[in-house]
Amino acid sequence: MFKTEIGKDLIKAKALLEASELVAIPTETVYGLAGNGLNAVSIAKIYEAKNRPQFNPLILHVSSISQMEKLVKEVPDPIHKLLLAFSPGPITYLLPKSDLIPDLVTAGSHRVAIRIPDHPLTLELLNMLDFPLAAPSANPSGYVSPVEASHVLDGLNGKIPYILDGGPCKVGLESTIVGYENNSIVVHRLGAIDEQQLKEVSGCSVEFKLSHQSPTAPGQMKSHYTTHKPIIVGDLDDLIDRYSSKKIAILSFQRSFNRVFVQRVISPSGNLIEAASNLFKAMRELDASTAEIILAEVFPNEGIGRAINDRLQRAAHVN
Ligand code: TXA
Ligand code: MG
Repeated sequence: MFKTEIGKDLIKAKALLEASELVAIPTETVYGLAGNGLNAVSIAKIYEAKNRPQFNPLILHVSSISQMEKLVKEVPDPIHKLLLAFSPGPITYLLPKSDLIPDLVTAGSHRVAIRIPDHPLTLELLNMLDFPLAAPSANPSGYVSPVEASHVLDGLNGKIPYILDGGPCKVGLESTIVGYENNSIVVHRLGAIDEQQLKEVSGCSVEFKLSHQSPTAPGQMKSHYTTHKPIIVGDLDDLIDRYSSKKIAILSFQRSFNRVFVQRVISPSGNLIEAASNLFKAMRELDASTAEIILAEVFPNEGIGRAINDRLQRAAHVN
């Protein structure tokens, strides 16, 4: 057991990471649970603290394109174009891994997931270290990702020594994950960088492999982002009628509702980017309320709205 502290002390974070301990780090997407990505002991601690199955591989975080190039065998040209356009930013690349990276990071795959996070504190920390940081989202496996330091504490109190507090995450949804296969950009997880941006910048066609069954990537499984209370996604007017006998929590885009027990309107002005940044916090708050059931609406399926719908659909899945 640790006494988990929260602060902005980069020297302390560096010392812990160099001693193979874990530190939660802020990124623009969600908080990560970081350890030395080249050190098997640190990586094993990540799986243990999250209670994460070891067949679910981890993302490496680096501070620059040149750092990334040292950890992979090659960067295909279209991926290089994406890197130039979106670094640092909310996108992760699946690339052939170099032998420096322990198999535990990639769960045995020859490809490593790697990204350059856009957060000043974490970029500064990465520049102080001579290894990449392996970091899954800093939540117990299966729960909603944390978008504030206090959310990390809620899930991992006592399990890690330090949380580096970088304030609320500005994007609020996990990174878009892409690979390059058969001359196409392949999207493995939806995020803030959308299909149109990928197509325009890479000059390639864009395909989707959002398989919810892939055993090598449980982050793609349904029920990955789930709350403790059941979430039902659909037309809110219908759902409110159907569940009128229950204490209802509502998660909506723009509209507010009368006579519901508790609600979160995540972008009254109808801005999908703002909605994404508020989604996980709202899910956590509704989950912590004394409502019996969470009813959520289907968001416009465009841009980051697709990623919002993806997370809600997975949260709604019942095992
Ligand atoms: O925005 C993000 O990506 C955040 C922040 C902390 O960087 N990280 C994050 O990590 O969401 P995590 O572990 O919660 O989700 C990573 C996803 C998982 O679905 C995992 O299965 C997949 O990436 N993944 C990681 N390495 C992979 C690999 N080598 N091949 C295929 N999928 C991989
Ligand atoms: Mg996660």
